[in-house]
Amino acid sequence: MNSKRKMMKVGFLQFQPILKDVEANIDSISKLIDETRSFDLLVIPELANSGYVFVEKNELAKVSEEIPSGYFVEKLIELTKQKNGYIVCGVCEKSRSKYFNSSVLVGPEGFVAKYRKVHLFDREKLFFEPGDGPFKLYDIRGMNLGMLVCWDWIFPEATRSLALQGMDVLAHSTNLVLSFCQTAMITRSIENQIFTITSNRIGIETNGEFSLHFKGHSQVTTPDAKRLVQASTDKEEIHFVEIDIKKARNKWLSDNNHIFNDRRPEMYNTLIEKKSFKL
Ligand code: ACM
Repeated sequence: MNSKRKMMKVGFLQFQPILKDVEANIDSISKLIDETRSFDLLVIPELANSGYVFVEKNELAKVSEEIPSGYFVEKLIELTKQKNGYIVCGVCEKSRSKYFNSSVLVGPEGFVAKYRKVHLFDREKLFFEPGDGPFKLYDIRGMNLGMLVCWDWIFPEATRSLALQGMDVLAHSTNLVLSFCQTAMITRSIENQIFTITSNRIGIETNGEFSLHFKGHSQVTTPDAKRLVQASTDKEEIHFVEIDIKKARNKWLSDNNHIFNDRRPEMYNTLIEKKSFKL
């Protein structure tokens, strides 16, 4: 084997969660994983325990859970033990009387970390608190892993905050209803020279007068702008690919261009100013 390579088996699971049915959702995830022998990292969609289309805040009480002691996260940990791999998965989190749209990172040793979605999308603002992140990396079998949740993608600052710490792979759990993200993640990959794994859900979910269509197309992107795999728009699927982490460790794009060392933060003051726009 080429000792310069550092191969990891990573992938995503794409499925249709059932709104407010936590048991059915862990059951669907378990069935989709069943055929897989082992992996290093599997990413599962946003709010995979609960579904997405809430009408009232009190609907979250029964389907959300404390992290890491809740039923759904414990079941995920059992799966990681069976498959000897790590899972990143979106979880509807309850913390006292507050709710967060979170992701957990769990593995054979148990709970590792959680990330609370920083940028809330549309009606999520009625139900969830804006998250406190953190934008932090975790060392998983020698791979520097960062987490974001769905709408965080449209703020390049979020991915950048992780990439500047040395991220190799971004685990991105989503419930996408617009179709721009999958293209944008190729750019996130190029500009940071990282791998991204976007795990999206599928299906039409209706609750009262609210209905959303989730667009699938889960994917893995590479530092050289490729999609190694992309799922359908409407089927439950699980896919794994082998990636060479070393490719994310080279930040030179030409003999004279290092994408991080060439940055000019002294020119970017407006990026860290808090501004409020009326228009
Ligand atoms: C989203 O953040 N679920 C679009």
